[in-house]
Amino acid sequence: MRIGLSVPDVGPAEQDAMSRVLAEGWIAPVGPDLDRFEQALCARTGRARAVAVSSGTAALHLQLLAAGIGPGEGVICPTLTFVATANAITYTGATPILVDCDDTGNIDPDLVEEAFESARHAGTPVRAVLPVDVYGKVADHRRLGEIADRHGALLMVDAAESLGARRDGVPAGKHGMSAAVSFNGNKIITTSSGGAVLTDDHALADRVLHLATQAKEPVAHFLHREVGYAYRMSNVLAALGTAQLTRLDDFLAARRGHRARYTELCDSVESLRILGGADDEDNCWLTVLELTDPGDQVVTIETLAAELASQGIETRRVFTPLHRQPLHADPERTPRVVNGTAERLFATCLAVPSSARSSSRDIDEVCGIIEAVMSRSDRIGSGRTRSITPYLSSGRSPSGAAA
Ligand SMILES: Cc1ncc(COP(=O)(O)O)c(C=O)c1O
Repeated sequence: MRIGLSVPDVGPAEQDAMSRVLAEGWIAPVGPDLDRFEQALCARTGRARAVAVSSGTAALHLQLLAAGIGPGEGVICPTLTFVATANAITYTGATPILVDCDDTGNIDPDLVEEAFESARHAGTPVRAVLPVDVYGKVADHRRLGEIADRHGALLMVDAAESLGARRDGVPAGKHGMSAAVSFNGNKIITTSSGGAVLTDDHALADRVLHLATQAKEPVAHFLHREVGYAYRMSNVLAALGTAQLTRLDDFLAARRGHRARYTELCDSVESLRILGGADDEDNCWLTVLELTDPGDQVVTIETLAAELASQGIETRRVFTPLHRQPLHADPERTPRVVNGTAERLFATCLAVPSSARSSSRDIDEVCGIIEAVMSRSDRIGSGRTRSITPYLSSGRSPSGAAA
């Protein structure tokens, strides 16, 4: 694709860092770059501790394990998320309890309350709520934390997508008992693959570190009392991460600039809005456009995506709701509280190019194509568009969704 959705941006700073770390010989797993990267992450997010690991999924897994979550227990998470959120819960032996989102795309706190009730009826102890800051908008962790507290559960956050964002001034990654971030290649900063657990709880951080390094006891010979994991980030990748982190503000500015351009587009085109609305605290990792007007069925996200693809522009639908994944289709095995909102967003939303590396001219071009497709539909469809498309092979219609 000529214009990608969210591609890495590496330049001289990263090249220098990689050359230096190789020249210094810090190739072996741990080294000073790992310390530097973790300290920089703490400084950026206001956390006391960061433990860098091999992926965001590993970070999610470890924060749950370190809190002692395991078989027979439930963890509430959104249905509108990447499968890794629920996978991490499943790795521990606990059961993901899927909850629908509100109009912003983030987990709906009212439905979280309902999920606690349903789990209580089913006799499943819920140990944690694991919300996701979807597409870089920080969820309402203040309210979610209050609900979790009231039910004696922990709040642990999947902040894989939200580094650099804030909510009421509080940085992403600072909410909850701990948070997991991702440095996967498509994220706002990347270490190629990587992640970190962020927390203010030293005991939790120590436990994460222990589990990430094969649960090796701190003695001269190899001594292991429990199963651990080979999850630690390498020193080489930490050097890349530190260089990327120094550029985070530039990446934020670029992605927010693209968001502003897409907002102008939405202001001028009927039936188009930005998922989550305008919020200058979002990191704008991905901008997602929502086709809103249930008028004549003329433009769908498929036609929009196909037109953009034909011109070399990458887009992506939002996550297939987890309760619609074959993996989680059985409500007996994966309980859920859903009301159709995630399904509606899946049918009506398209993530559009948001890379820091894209120029404003690239984004103008994307907006121009979208505008042309929408205005063509205006002529055909008497000024209105229709966006609800059939997309799932089974299941009820997305009724009950908030407007
Ligand atoms: C919401 C969410 N959770 C978890 C992950 C997993 O992160 P990773 O790919 O680094 O394992 C990702 C991204 O990949 C994500 O978007």
